[in-house]
Amino acid sequence: MEKDILHRAYDPEQFRQQGHQLVDRLADYLAQMQSEPHLAVLPWQSPEDKLHSWQADFSNSPQLSINQFFDRVLMESMHIHHPRYVGHQVAAPAPVAALAGLLSGFLNNGMAVYEMGPASSAIERMVMKQVASKVDYDDSAGGIMTSGGTLANLTALLTARQIKTKNKAWEEGVNKQLAIMVSEEAHYCVDRAVKIMGWGEAGIIRIPVDQMYRMRTDLLQSYLIQAKQEGKQVIAIVASACSTSTGSYDDLAETAHFCQQHNLWLHVDGAHGAAVAFSSKYRSLVKGISQADSITLDFHKMLMTSALTTGLLFKDESHSFATFAQQASYLLSKEKTDWYNSGKRTIECTKRMMSIQVYALLRTYGWQLWDDNVTQLYDLAARFAAMIQQRNTLDLALSPQANIVCFRYAPSRISASQLNVLNVQIRQQILEEGKFYIVQTRLKEEVFLRVALMNPFTTEAMLNDLLDDITQKGKELQREI
Ligand SMILES: Cc1ncc(COP(=O)(O)O)c(C=O)c1O
Repeated sequence: MEKDILHRAYDPEQFRQQGHQLVDRLADYLAQMQSEPHLAVLPWQSPEDKLHSWQADFSNSPQLSINQFFDRVLMESMHIHHPRYVGHQVAAPAPVAALAGLLSGFLNNGMAVYEMGPASSAIERMVMKQVASKVDYDDSAGGIMTSGGTLANLTALLTARQIKTKNKAWEEGVNKQLAIMVSEEAHYCVDRAVKIMGWGEAGIIRIPVDQMYRMRTDLLQSYLIQAKQEGKQVIAIVASACSTSTGSYDDLAETAHFCQQHNLWLHVDGAHGAAVAFSSKYRSLVKGISQADSITLDFHKMLMTSALTTGLLFKDESHSFATFAQQASYLLSKEKTDWYNSGKRTIECTKRMMSIQVYALLRTYGWQLWDDNVTQLYDLAARFAAMIQQRNTLDLALSPQANIVCFRYAPSRISASQLNVLNVQIRQQILEEGKFYIVQTRLKEEVFLRVALMNPFTTEAMLNDLLDDITQKGKELQREI
């Protein structure tokens, strides 16, 4: 007798078979990416064509088996494990972390309260304490995990607001103009966090950057004085470690000193670059980080987990219990130190069991894994920058501090606007051809090509090939401008 639909949906034997097939397929795919990969990094199709092809799949009452479907998704996705993927800052997840992600997806422990994730709550506590000690925080530090750097930054600023307004903002609403100071190069989610909190454009004070795109700490004093004269209460500074566009590290020690002098909260947006704390060679880039009140760190960027896996660390962990001074009596206990009820301190109620991805990596490979990965990527970026400088038609925007390199095709005798058009066209051709994946950014209104080296198997030979490709395309396109 054929099983009913619900029993079929939960059939253990079918799961076993499909799961084995999928893992075999992914292992083959990974091997293919690591040998000479002939696949395009991104099999480009326009959004409309892509939508139509999937609509056709659905309206023909899907003909493909589930494994054929998985295979099709695989082949039509961005191949992040491809060593010629050098685009946005997303990790190629290490397989053991991806397996932990599957476990989280399957177990679906919602984490808001201890009993809805006993193992993953304890692991989260342990991992956050360990990571806190790696940024030289002491025993009073700790943290939570949350769904992405964007949410972590918002959460940190909500905590700062509570602490610096003594909970008044939460209870009474915001009845005076609060503000933060942040580099004009900060990630757009900081601006968004300020707007979400209802402080408007006046709530974000953008500090200009120096030649290396680092926040000018010499200007903090005058901007603070001016903000006070305008009747604003500045409560925090957000420092970028590092910035998204250029990978520039703000001077954390200097900013921390300023914050201490003026009783400001210091939040470090280290979504991308706080991971450098694990690199014995490069950790001086975050000198002073242990003086920050809070730090955002994405594991799904340089630390080899899949998204979203973010840590939000607090120098004084008790502050994180103040973030949401709310009592949902059916859910949240009144105790202030119940680290195990994670929903009390996060925007999410239900969240994924993200800590198990992080711990799966740590317990398998130890801290050395992250040291090697970050160090290798930063070393490669420095070599890539040197390769760019050797070519006279290429212009390096700045010497990279991190694994992010901005440059452009810049032949002589061409106007600024033509240069922008040319580089946009080069990047579009690269995108559509799929041999590499790179992105672009605007620096002071000028378009630059942007490479983030995320994969430890990207080689100098591949990068040389990329530069040949860009130069060739640039020459051809220039004739048409
Ligand atoms: C500096 C910085 N902050 C925040 C974010 C946002 O992080 P997420 O994508 O995890 O929300 C990014 C993403 O690139 C980033 O580079």
